Amino acid sequence: MDARVAVIVGSKGRGSNMERLVLAGRAREYPGHVALVVSPSLDAPAVARATELGVPAVYVARGERYGCRLAQALEGMDLVCLAGYMWLLPTEVLRAFPGRVLNIHPALLPRFGGKGMYGHHVHEAVVAAGETVSGCTVHYVTEQYDEGATILQRRYLLAPGETPESLAAAILRLEHEAYPEAVARVLGG
Ligand code: GRF
Repeated sequence: MDARVAVIVGSKGRGSNMERLVLAGRAREYPGHVALVVSPSLDAPAVARATELGVPAVYVARGERYGCRLAQALEGMDLVCLAGYMWLLPTEVLRAFPGRVLNIHPALLPRFGGKGMYGHHVHEAVVAAGETVSGCTVHYVTEQYDEGATILQRRYLLAPGETPESLAAAILRLEHEAYPEAVARVLGG
C-alpha cells in the first residue's frame, strides 16, 4: 500500500522532520509517501522547503471555521503527521482521522510535555531538572497536548556539560530517524 501522508508544519517551522518524512517516502519499500504539506502561515520556511522538494503545500489560515477548512484540505489523506505544529488540533480533524494523527515531541513523554512545553522550553527544562536521559516520542494525537498513546520512543543519554542547545541538536537527529520509522510502523499495521 502506498498511503497518502499529510504533514502539518508549524507557522515558523523549519520543516526538517517534514523533509525526512518526504525522503523516507521516496524509498521503494516504504509504505506511504508525503502527498501534502499544510502550513498555518505562508512564510514558514517549511513551505519553501516542501516546494523545493516538489511536494504540494497549502496554506490554511487560522480563524473562522478553521477546523472545517483544515479537515477539507486534508481530504483524501490516509494519515496526518504533525511536525512542529504548535496548537491543539481542531476536533473536526480528529473526528475525520480517528487514530490516524501522529505527532513528534522532543522529550520522553509523559515527562516534559503539555501546554507550553515546546521547542527550547523542553530542553531547558530537561537540563534544569538535572536529567541524565531525554529523547523523543512519536505518539497519537488527542484533544489534549501530548497525551495520546506512544508509538515509539528513542532515548538519548545527556553528555557531561550538555546545554539546552546541544541537547536540542542531538534530539533533532534522533527525531529524524524516529518519525519515519514510527510512520512506517503505523502504516504497516
Ligand atoms: C521538533 O523538535 C518536534 O519535536 C517539535 O517541533 C519541532 C519541529 O522541527 N514538535 P522541524 O520543523 O521539523 O525541524
